[in-house]
Amino acid sequence: MGPLTHSERPIRWGVIGAGGVAHGFATGLGSLPDARIVAVTSRRPSSARAFATRFGPMQVHHGVDELVRDPLVDVVYVATPNHRHVHDTLSSLRHDKAVLCEKPFTLDAEQTHAVVDEARRRGVFCMEAMWMRFTPAIGRAAQLIASGAIGEVRTLHADFSVRAPLDPASRLFDPAMGGGALLDLGVYPLSLADMLLGPATVAGARVVMGPTRVDEHVAVVTTHGDDRLAVSTASLRAVGHNDAVVGGTGGSLRICGPICRPTRLVWSTCPDEPVTRADDHPTPGRRGRRHAALVRRIRARARVERVPLRGNGYEGEALEVMRCLRAGLAESPGMPLDATLRTMEVLDAVRAHTRT
Ligand SMILES: NC(=O)c1ccc[n+]([C@@H]2O[C@H](COP(=O)([O-])OP(=O)(O)OC[C@H]3O[C@@H](n4cnc5c(N)ncnc54)[C@H](OP(=O)(O)O)[C@@H]3O)[C@@H](O)[C@H]2O)c1
Repeated sequence: MGPLTHSERPIRWGVIGAGGVAHGFATGLGSLPDARIVAVTSRRPSSARAFATRFGPMQVHHGVDELVRDPLVDVVYVATPNHRHVHDTLSSLRHDKAVLCEKPFTLDAEQTHAVVDEARRRGVFCMEAMWMRFTPAIGRAAQLIASGAIGEVRTLHADFSVRAPLDPASRLFDPAMGGGALLDLGVYPLSLADMLLGPATVAGARVVMGPTRVDEHVAVVTTHGDDRLAVSTASLRAVGHNDAVVGGTGGSLRICGPICRPTRLVWSTCPDEPVTRADDHPTPGRRGRRHAALVRRIRARARVERVPLRGNGYEGEALEVMRCLRAGLAESPGMPLDATLRTMEVLDAVRAHTRT
């Protein structure tokens, strides 16, 4: 696809799937002067009409086939449940529509390969809607790490947990719709691990299955090259810390959760001496006082940076798509298709490790 040469005209979005995230995304797009939603379709016409009433005026199409043929649409935002992504994305690409597809990109690596091959063969822009990567806080964290602020990165502990009510009718708990903690939530820490530590190999993984036969809790250990290690956890049914903590040879960086849309970083460099929780469990005597002083020194060095979201957090990924379209790029350097592929392969490997 060539660049959108009329740089002064808005980029025209079509939306497939008028559910929860589509409403959030459309609200974000509403604050961008060079974006317009011109079309929507959804499984139920009533959902699409309600969406159009709220965010329109726009065309309400009867089905995906009609929307992807709409000549006014430059780029399609796929916001249907996980099991629909491969169909809706391929349909869009086959009509030479650029695509931003919600995470998880597809259900498995085989489907992702099919989409990536199609996009590359046609030279049409395609990107996973991993909005986390385009938040200012993640950008700042990457910048701090690249500047050596915490030395050489060696570890990552990242969690993304929500406590959703058990509802067999919800897509989250429906195996046929690609439900489960790994695909819906685990994809965030695993994508972050790929971004900050490099390509992963799954060293081990465990899941706890729930009554609807989706994984409700998941823990994954990945290695990244010879000297880096990540622990990623996610849960659909438990409360978690939702932070990501990057450990380096010279300090640590806490990306305060929720990791999909963080707004605060806490980072500290530390002396060579080991850190203990001396002030939480004071040891009497001189040794205890020395430890307490050390911990106070380290905490005094901790810097807290507030890094606000732009709008509701969806603007970053939308801006990236529009920047790429105007520049004539077929892939985003910030969320490359190869990284999406690697993460899908990790998700497959986790399932291979945990299959009973
Ligand atoms: N980036 C983020 O922050 C974020 C947050 C949440 C979810 N997500 C991702 O976004 C996607 C949608 O999630 P959501 O929470 O918005 O889901 P949702 O509220 O259930 O909405 C899904 C939409 O897809 C339609 N749909 C439902 N089942 C369908 C089916 N079997 N076939 C075709 N269409 C169907 C629904 O249509 P009708 O209403 O017309 O029936 C609805 O408009 C998922 O892939 C999810 O992982 C991303």
